[in-house]
Amino acid sequence: MYIVFEGIDGAGKSTQIQLLKEWLEANGFEVETMVEPTDSEVGKLIRRILQRPDANDDDVQRVLALLFAADRMFIMDKLNDDSKIIISDRSFISSLAYQEPLEWVEEINKYAKRPDLLILLDLDVKKSVARTSGKDTFENEEFLTGVRDNYLDLVKNYEHQIIDANNGVNKVSSDIKKAVAPYLGLCPDCIL
Ligand code: TYD
Repeated sequence: MYIVFEGIDGAGKSTQIQLLKEWLEANGFEVETMVEPTDSEVGKLIRRILQRPDANDDDVQRVLALLFAADRMFIMDKLNDDSKIIISDRSFISSLAYQEPLEWVEEINKYAKRPDLLILLDLDVKKSVARTSGKDTFENEEFLTGVRDNYLDLVKNYEHQIIDANNGVNKVSSDIKKAVAPYLGLCPDCIL
């Protein structure tokens, strides 16, 4: 099963993925986690470009869209491993939410693997800016409002669960477990 976590910056994806992984392992599942951008050469290049002052310019954004798409081609084989649960921190759905134009971004990502389950950690944009200190490329309120709206539209195309990420870590974690449990034949109430 390929489970993807999406959400705007600061939504708590990495913390929640770790908690879900530990819980699934305690229930006997083999779990592997992934992060996009990856730590490949392309992923490193992406992180460098994201630091540039002109990272929001249209031409740089188009370069980034191509690099995000290229970077995820490195992990396609791993994602096709059916022997375990793979949980990914972001996916091509981040590109659909952050980059544009949508039709082109869909086209360059057409070989990217679709998730079996998409978990959207839905965080208030003002909280996102406060949590991330609002200084990096994508961390401003107007931009993130658009990204959040994109996510709420995009999730409809996939098997998904929207989780309110404005709550405390433990509440969010138990909401995620309850949402994931039925897909794996787990009883949500007896193993929290
Ligand atoms: P992320 O690793 O979530 O941020 P951080 O380094 O703070 O942990 O991702 C880096 C940024 O890249 C984030 O603002 C979202 C953005 N991004 C895209 O715009 N498109 C994509 O396809 C991906 C995977 C990430």
